Parts: sequence; C-alpha cells; structure tokens
Amino acid sequence: TRIDKAGHKHFMAKEIAEQPGVIGQALSHYMSDTGEILLPGEGVDFTQIDRITMVACGTAAYACLTAKYWFEQIARIPVEVDVASEFRYREPPIPGRTLALFVSQSGETADTLAALRYCEGKAQTILSVVNVPESSIARESDLTLPIYAGVEVGVASTKAFTCQLTVLFMLALKAAQQRGALSDEAFADHVSALRGLPSVINAALEKNGEIRDAAQKLSHAQDVLFLGRGRMFPMAHEAALKLKEISYIHAEAYASGELKHGPIALIDENMPVVVLAPYDTLFDKTVSNMQEVMARKGKVILISDSEGLAEASEGVWATIEMPRISEALGPILYAIPSQLLAYHTAVAKGTDVDQPRNLAKSVTVE
Ligand code: G6P
Repeated sequence: TRIDKAGHKHFMAKEIAEQPGVIGQALSHYMSDTGEILLPGEGVDFTQIDRITMVACGTAAYACLTAKYWFEQIARIPVEVDVASEFRYREPPIPGRTLALFVSQSGETADTLAALRYCEGKAQTILSVVNVPESSIARESDLTLPIYAGVEVGVASTKAFTCQLTVLFMLALKAAQQRGALSDEAFADHVSALRGLPSVINAALEKNGEIRDAAQKLSHAQDVLFLGRGRMFPMAHEAALKLKEISYIHAEAYASGELKHGPIALIDENMPVVVLAPYDTLFDKTVSNMQEVMARKGKVILISDSEGLAEASEGVWATIEMPRISEALGPILYAIPSQLLAYHTAVAKGTDVDQPRNLAKSVTVE
C-alpha cells in the first residue's frame, strides 16, 4: 500500500493526528470487551519475575523510562532502564528471574539488537515491544507484543511512541493483576481510563491553535529547558528530544527538583522553560520549581489542565490547556502537546520536519 500524507503538510502532522485511531487499535488488540488484558501466546507469568531490565534507543528509551514508573508503582516490580549503546558494553550482571524487555519501533536498531543478543546469551526470557512484527528484534524474542501503530514515516517518532506507552501500560496492568498488587476496583478504574484515552487524545489535538501560538514564541529561542516530575520527567526528555530533532533548537530536560542543582544558573529572560504539570499529587512541587524560574525572569510555558492553570498561570509567558486524565495515563496525553510544540516550532523555522538533517529513521549500523 502506498502511504501518503492524506492532506497533511507533513507525515509528522499526519502521524500525530492518527494517534486517537492507532491507540484505539492497540487497545482493541490487548483488551477484551470485559476489560481483561490479553497477551499473545503464552503471555508472561509475572509471578515468576523479580525484576525487569528495559533497553532501547532514542524515543523508545523514553517510553521505557515512563513504563518504569508504571511497573514500579502499579505492579511493584523493580525496573532498570538503559540505552542500548551503554547496556551492551557495560557487561551488566543479570540475576535470574529477570525479564529482559526491548522496545523498538523498527525492530532493527543495531544497538538494541546487540543488547538483546547479550541477554539471550545469559538465558533470559526476551520480550519485545515493536511496531514491525517481522523485524529482527521480533524474530529473536521469546514473545513479541506488536504496537499496531501502522507505518511511521516521519523520522521523529510520534504515534509509535504513544502506542508503545499504551501497550507497556497494559503490560504493567497485567503484571499488577497477576501479582495481586491492585484491587479489582483500582484495576477497573485503570481500564476505564484506558478506554477513554482515544477521546482524551482527540481533545488534546484540538488545542493545536494554542500550541502553535506557543511554538511561535519558542521558535526564536536558542535554548529551551523542559521540566517535569515523576512520570512527567521522562516526558520532559521526550519533549526536549522532539524539539532538538526537528527544530535544531538546543533543548534539555531536567527533573524539576534538580533545577536548583545546576540548570537554574542558566535561567534568564532569554531562556524559555516548558513545564509539564498536570494537576496531580506532584503539582505543587513542580509549581514551586516553576516559580523559582519566574523569579529569575525565565519565560515559562505551562502545560497543565484547567485546575492547574487556574491555580498557577499568573505571570507565565504562555499556557497550553490539556484535558483532565487519570494520574497514571498523564504521560500518554502530555506526549501530544510535546509533539505539536516541536512540530510547529520546526514549521515556524522552516526546517525539514520529516527528514531532519543528520538523522535516520532506523539506525541499523552501530
Ligand atoms: C532513530 C530514530 C528515532 C528512534 C530511534 C530508535 O534514532 O530517529 O526516532 O527513536 O532510532 O529507533 P527504534 O526503531 O529502535 O525505535
């Protein structure tokens, strides 16, 4: 089948817009009508696992970092995450009862494949989450969970990222259920939040205009800092990565609480700071870090929901309002403004959105 832009200016814009649909696809493949999580084949027996090692590169590695919060907080399984290029050479000891989990859009990334082979050599159970089911990584795994995102053409990954997150979240729920870490009520709440995800993502996409306005402002910046706490910390990394990949603006991500240990020295009126802060249990903490930025004339773009903005938007440079969502699923929703912010900044700068310089969609050599 020929893939075209379906009326969009770029593949990236098309792929961002496709997310409610493809996330719905991913959900329907892994969730029954009665809200059971279904894994292919024999599935995974999480009662036999004490630890998960997750390995990936680029955007997929940020999906892993996000999933670490889910596996640890919801399923109570310790998780180690590493980028494949480091993992493969640091000769990590891998205790028994470890699940090795590899995430890759293409399933062909050379470093990720080498990391997988290292774990194979240590007789680990190998699980992979991929977009291309006939890929090398899928073939060499004991079990593969496809993400059903469809072909992704834009070099900067968007819909594959949110589908990876969706599948990883369902896997964490399954693990939590098997290990008795969740009450039936809490499980049912997560399932119903998941079912609502496509429509919440749709509502986020409708904020396109607001996000474009904020991107206009960002497009003049030399450097941008992204801040988040908890599950929003990996998202801050992904947002910074998206911006540098396609707009070539230098961007960094920091855990909000680390601001005072270094990056606060960079803050002045030329330094836009994007704060990812849904109105959740960590909101007040993040906002107090944001106020430290504003006290030093830093320009803040606050991404939050109506409650958060009502409480904390005074004096900020720009706001982007997201719908409300369950605390656990926050990162999947906040991927949308992160992607659109990078996209519109790149469009404003006139860079090549779908084929950014020096980058490849899939890196099959070391
Ligand atoms: C390249 C791409 C990134 C991607 C990374 C990992 O760097 O430009 O968008 O996240 O590879 O790719 P994979 O196919 O393993 O997810």
